[in-house]
Amino acid sequence: MTTLDPKTNAVSLPQAPQATNFRLPGPTPVPPQVAAAGAWPMMNHRSPEFTQILRRVTGNLQHFFQTEQPVLCFPGSGSAGWEVSIANFFSPADTVAVISIGNFGDRYALAAQSFGLNVTKIDFPWGQAADPAVVAEKISQIANLRGVFFTHNETSTSVANDVAALSKAIAAAVPDALISVDAVSSLGCVSVPMDELGIDMLFTGSQKGWMTPPGLMMFAASKRALEASKSAKLPRFYWDVNRALDAMSHGYPPYTIPVSLWYQLDVALTMMRAEGREHVFARHAEMGAYVRRRAQELGLKLFADQRFASNTVTAIYGPEGKDVKTFLKTLKEQDNVVFAGGQAKLDGVIFRAGHMGYATIDDLAEAFNAVERRMGE
Ligand SMILES: Cc1ncc(COP(=O)(O)O)c(C=O)c1O
Repeated sequence: MTTLDPKTNAVSLPQAPQATNFRLPGPTPVPPQVAAAGAWPMMNHRSPEFTQILRRVTGNLQHFFQTEQPVLCFPGSGSAGWEVSIANFFSPADTVAVISIGNFGDRYALAAQSFGLNVTKIDFPWGQAADPAVVAEKISQIANLRGVFFTHNETSTSVANDVAALSKAIAAAVPDALISVDAVSSLGCVSVPMDELGIDMLFTGSQKGWMTPPGLMMFAASKRALEASKSAKLPRFYWDVNRALDAMSHGYPPYTIPVSLWYQLDVALTMMRAEGREHVFARHAEMGAYVRRRAQELGLKLFADQRFASNTVTAIYGPEGKDVKTFLKTLKEQDNVVFAGGQAKLDGVIFRAGHMGYATIDDLAEAFNAVERRMGE
């Protein structure tokens, strides 16, 4: 048996996948500078050098969350946001309402049920946004309501709820309920001013609008939510917000964190700050408008109620007379363009174009030129 010397490169190693025009609504492409940061040497995560990164990343996240509250980065994906927003702020059998307009709203409700909360689900048809007046009416009838959860940008249907109108309606109807917003696929691309809107829990995932690979879930809680967490009785350890905040106040994370992802997020956020928050938001608005216009020019039908169209993802019915899955397979294999399919009941019905994070109109034009070519076949 030969002994492998890890410092030599004599073995045949797995190879990188082929680069594509990658139009998934997460994970999303990463800029070369961010990719390169993933190869930087390891650093002690309890060192003054890491404290500098932590402080810089936190400050830049606060800027995009539009909050004075500290923003925590947990190792995990967007789904961890559901768990953190539940486990830290509620007690068993607490009553909450979950507003769902699609697959991710459904999953948020499932997460709340899994923790033994008493969940009232308020559903709206897929493709529609939540109606704030209906929500207000329904939640005002629920006794002892402790929290109201909703998805800002429903990635499965490409509908963006009116986060300002919903938060306002909820606060007016049930002032004591904590408002938790899943902004996994919108934050960093679309304005969600946490403090101004009175949002209590707000979270996102690194692989969406943040030009960073999957693996970090960024989370902020209001002062009122942190106060509630002191008496909340659901068990938590790894996802404990107060433990993480305490460690962070000393400049360190509470446990070993994915150091390389932090390097990458730090670089990505620095790039986003250089571009400018308002410019980032405007670029996403332009990309959303471009995709919607281009798809319609091609004769394709959009899935979402266009009054609430998302600027980070667009759900499009498959071309008439073509099998959506075969169509997407051809685009991938022949044109190197990768779109997402539909989820749950939309599987085989729609396809989704992601336009969040590291993307430009040129990338989208190239992708839709390929769609145009294949539609003509
Ligand atoms: C709105 C929304 N919430 C939650 C999630 C779950 O995130 P993850 O798959 O990163 O766990 C996603 C993922 O696409 C999402 O789009």
